[in-house]
Amino acid sequence: MRKLLVANFKMHVPDAGAWRSFRVSKSAEVVVCPPLPYLRDFGQNKNFKLGAQDVFWENVRSGGAYTGEVSVEILKKFGVGYVILGHSERRALGETDEIVNKKVKTALASGLKVILCVGESKETKKKGEVAAKRFISQELRADLSGVKKIFLKNITVAYEPIWAIGTGVPDKPEDAALMSLFIKKLLPVKVLYGGSVNQRNAAKFLKAKELDGALVGTASLNPKEFKKIVEASINPHT
Ligand code: PGA
Repeated sequence: MRKLLVANFKMHVPDAGAWRSFRVSKSAEVVVCPPLPYLRDFGQNKNFKLGAQDVFWENVRSGGAYTGEVSVEILKKFGVGYVILGHSERRALGETDEIVNKKVKTALASGLKVILCVGESKETKKKGEVAAKRFISQELRADLSGVKKIFLKNITVAYEPIWAIGTGVPDKPEDAALMSLFIKKLLPVKVLYGGSVNQRNAAKFLKAKELDGALVGTASLNPKEFKKIVEASINPHT
């Protein structure tokens, strides 16, 4: 199975020029999610697919009077095929499960593939495995409430423990694999791991058969490092 590697540039300014020559083997599926104004720069490279980091839940039929928001139709015009939803950095700014759920439904109805982020806080992690699993299942239930089964094939869940994001302290690969198994028992979806993945630790996550890939933030900003992470997914034993 080809692994899925997603680059999330967040609000960082990407070096679009350096990415122009980014080449990877077809043995991995790569999605790059730049900030919106850079979509056109990144849309030219056929070695990866384009993703967005968010989308609004209203679509073109509701008119355009939503200052600052971007619709599924606009994203698709720019060649976007994937959208990250429910990232913990957006949840921290006030995005509720209800909002995530509306966005998930709109994105799926438009044909976009959804990368749905879920993950427990440090406090929940401290309470133990049962508490963490309970949190993740509640988050998934709320975010996917009312989503029809036929759409599940277009959803990938990114398990991103909040305490591991941007901290340089990733989850243990075996714990991430266990959480992936737990999620796969709840839903027939692919599961990625995200949180401080870099070129040194990527192989440990990517060789786990329970994990279908990784969502990479900081380490994806440098195309050379990200390429090494992609290569680790193709041959995780090197
Ligand atoms: P990180 O971010 O790789 O910098 O920890 C991951 C993410 O937020 O998706």
